[in-house]
Parts: sequence; structure tokens; C-alpha cells
Amino acid sequence: MFEHLEPYAGDPIFRIGDMCRADTRPQKVDLTVGLYFDGQGRIPVLDSIHQAELKRAQQPETRQYLPMEGLPSYRSAVQKLLFGEDSAALNEGRIVTMQSVGGTGALRIGAELLHMASPNSEIWISDPGWDNHHSIFEGAGLKTHTYPYYDSVNGVLLFDSMKQTFKNIPEGSIVLLHPCCHNPTGADLDHAQWEEITDIIMARKLLPFLDIAYQGFSEGLEEDAFAVRLMASKNIPVLVANSFSKNFSFYAERCGGLSVVCQSTNEAERVLGQIKLLVRRIYSNPPLHGARVISDVLNEPELFSIWKNEVDGMRTRIRTIRQKAYDILQKQAPHFDSSFIIKQHGMFSYTGLSLAQIERLRTDYGVYLIDSGRISVPGLNEDNVAYFAESVSKVV
Ligand code: LMR
Repeated sequence: MFEHLEPYAGDPIFRIGDMCRADTRPQKVDLTVGLYFDGQGRIPVLDSIHQAELKRAQQPETRQYLPMEGLPSYRSAVQKLLFGEDSAALNEGRIVTMQSVGGTGALRIGAELLHMASPNSEIWISDPGWDNHHSIFEGAGLKTHTYPYYDSVNGVLLFDSMKQTFKNIPEGSIVLLHPCCHNPTGADLDHAQWEEITDIIMARKLLPFLDIAYQGFSEGLEEDAFAVRLMASKNIPVLVANSFSKNFSFYAERCGGLSVVCQSTNEAERVLGQIKLLVRRIYSNPPLHGARVISDVLNEPELFSIWKNEVDGMRTRIRTIRQKAYDILQKQAPHFDSSFIIKQHGMFSYTGLSLAQIERLRTDYGVYLIDSGRISVPGLNEDNVAYFAESVSKVV
């Protein structure tokens, strides 16, 4: 049965993270996987989460199966966070949200739903993009393509080429977009550009699939939902995959959501039914713990305000360390244009370094970034930012 199976080449992101973990040099710098590290280089346990867990732990609670679509209080809290309490689509009962196994699980269930609804579906993904998007959609039977997004040599968004592509692809095509903190470039559309893209999507009858994994890391929890709310207000079908891995520092609990904005409540009911069927076929129903804790934080005003401050703190730290890295890089390597690091937002920056430079950084200095040249900025802190800049200055 298995003799002919190929060895697994490894994931392009996690593989390099593993390489870094195996490196025993004390000065190594981990800029690989999108993980938020605090100023001391630790993955924090948020106080909001800890308080919710302490409260829960005081009362033994049964572990009955959750419904296939997940915990109701979690699902409704996800909806408010993404679409806003005053969303017309939400208040009209046209948005279906399921609790998913992380953002990846949301993308995969969404992909399965699209394939089920239209087996010849094709999806366009940004170039560059998150490597796993291609695997997820291809795994569900969709054909994947790319649209131009970012020119890493000149450090600019390719907005005109992106628009041109959207104008030329077949009607009904699916387009994968990142509402904030684009992974891997950290370069986002501004509000006017989102309006323009939305108009093209509507005119060309494209279907937007929005992947929001870093809500709160660019401008703020509300601000970062701009594109989601804009598209949901247009009475067009929209899919949204969201993740709480980073903004709750809750990676291993795999908490996310898939939301589908439908045209009517009747359609919403049928979409929910098919989502339940997909879930039942794959894993029956989702796990309880993480969703219950996040639901407590999102639904209890006191915990919510603690969490909001924590997200604001993570965002501010990323901004500060970006500025610091830029200041030092400018001094250490004046010939190297490092302005990308302060122009880009959120978790990631796209350095434009070549593979040869990246490999030298790893081998000679223990500074680890993935092959595409993406750095996960929170890997930098006051203790290692100068060493990082000095190492970069040696290879550029
Ligand atoms: C990343 O891009 O590094 C993160 O989203 C983690 C992952 O699953 O790839």
C-alpha cells in the first residue's frame, strides 16, 4: 500500500522553524514561523485567557459533544468581532459562522464548501502568498492560480496589475485576499484601494474569500476589519476565515472560524447544513476548551477590555521594534534600503533578500528567516535587534 509514497519534503515555514530550534548557538534569532514573541522572547499567555481559564477551572464542567458547527456563544462573538454589531447582513440573519480548527481548518472547510457548490471552482491567490493556501485549496480539488501583488525588488504593491488580473479572470472565479497584515509581505491595500477592488469584484461577479489571521496587529481590532465589513455590506457572497492563534496567543488550541455571507436567510440555512455535513464527515464536531475560553473573553466586557489592551500592546511592540530595526539597519548598512520594515504592517516583513543571503544568515549567524525572505518581526527584541541588523549588514 505505501511502498510508492514519496518522502515528505517538509513544510516551507515549519521546516525552517525546526532548523532554528535545533541550532544550539545562544545568539540565534528565530524569525521563521508567524508567532508573537514578547520583549523577552517568550510566547505570552494572555492575562485575559488566564483569568477566563481560572474562572472555568473552579467549576467542574461536563464535556458533552459540541454541535457540528461549534459553540453558539463563540460563533456569535466571532460574528460581532468580524462584522460589527451594526452589520445589516448579520442583523438580517444572512451570515453563517462555524467554529473551525484554526484558520487553516476554516480555509479547508470553506474550500470544500466551494468545491461542493461548484466542482470546477478556481481560485486566485496573491503572488507572493502564504505557501499553505495553494496546498489547502488544491487539496480540496480547486485549481489555483496567482495574481500579481507585490514587487519585492522595488518594495511596492502591484495594485494596477492586481486590478488588471481581476478584470480579466473568468466570472465566478474566487479571489483570496488578506484584509490586514498580508502574509508574507506586510503590505496592505488602503481604504480607497479596497473600495476599488470591491467594485471590480462586484462588476466581474468574483467571489472574495478573505483570510484574516492577524486582526488587531495592523491598526486595531475594529480598523483591521475594514475590508471584511465593506464587502459584507455589498450584498454579495463573501467567505471569511479567521484565526485567534496570534491575537490570543492561543496557537495550539486551534481556534478559528469560517463565516459565509449569504444572499438570504434561506440560503444561510442551507449553507450551514452543508457545513455541518462536511464537518461530520471529517471530524464530527470541534473541541470545546479553547472556544469556551475565547467565548468568555469576547462576551464578558471586563475580560474583553483586558484582551483589547493586550492586543494593543502586541501591536505597539511590533511597531516599536520595526522602527528600532530600521534605525540600526540604516546605520549598519546604509547602502541597503531597509525602509520596507517601517512601511509594512503587522507580523511580517518581506526583506527582498536572496536565497544565498538568507542561507548565509542561517549558517554564519544563526539568523533564521524562511526561503521567501519573509521575517516574522516579533522574533526581534531589544536584546537581539542589533545583532540581527549587524548580521544583515554582513550579507547585503
Ligand atoms: C505563518 O505563516 O508562519 C503562520 O501563519 C503559521 C503557519 O501556519 O504557517
